[in-house]
Amino acid sequence: MVMTQDELKQAVAKTAADYVAAHLPIGGIVGVGTGSTANFFIDELAKLKARVGATVASSEATKKRLEGHGMKVLDLNEVGSMPVYVDGADEITAKLEMIKGGGGALTREKIVAAVADRFICVCDQSKLVDTLGKFPLPVEVVPMARAHVARELVKLGGQPRLREGLVTDNGNVILDVHGLAIGDPAGLETAINQIVGVVSNGLFAKRPADLLLLATPEGVRMLTA
Ligand code: A5P
Repeated sequence: MVMTQDELKQAVAKTAADYVAAHLPIGGIVGVGTGSTANFFIDELAKLKARVGATVASSEATKKRLEGHGMKVLDLNEVGSMPVYVDGADEITAKLEMIKGGGGALTREKIVAAVADRFICVCDQSKLVDTLGKFPLPVEVVPMARAHVARELVKLGGQPRLREGLVTDNGNVILDVHGLAIGDPAGLETAINQIVGVVSNGLFAKRPADLLLLATPEGVRMLTA
């Protein structure tokens, strides 16, 4: 069967909502990611409004969409525990290490994911790769450090390019790093975080996903590392 990418995203979003319905304690808090697949998930999650206690959003855009559905959105600082976080990815490997941040929300996504017990990644099959790095790696940077961080990223073997016209929800800029073939995702994640002026980077390797729901035309596959 031929399915469009949107149909694949819709299918995986529905599976993720079913997963939440089956596993979330009544009144539990759901962390919600950012991007087009996450948007489909939000629309499905809204149907579980009676069961979900509240949500935490990984971006202003996600907050707006959740609130548009009448869902309660909490500040992360009000939340002591979060059973599950659901988000997309730009690339993901069989080890469930990811590149994220194509939408520019990587820092808040990483923070919300850090609080969650389980990270459920929702993707269509185009996102599954053998090696991370074909998708340019987003790095969020304090604006005054942009040129310094760019020079340091070149030393790490990348070609950073400023994402024109984008200011993150945190008031920073994004450097997209091209030309990386990432053999050691956790090592590179740490190395980039050591550069002064970096807020965070889009490698999610030290805290990978726990479950990948991967949409294919044959159905949604469930993969663990
Ligand atoms: C947002 O900053 C990203 O991390 C997204 O999760 C990622 O770009 C996936 O987005 P799509 O679902 O739109 O491909």
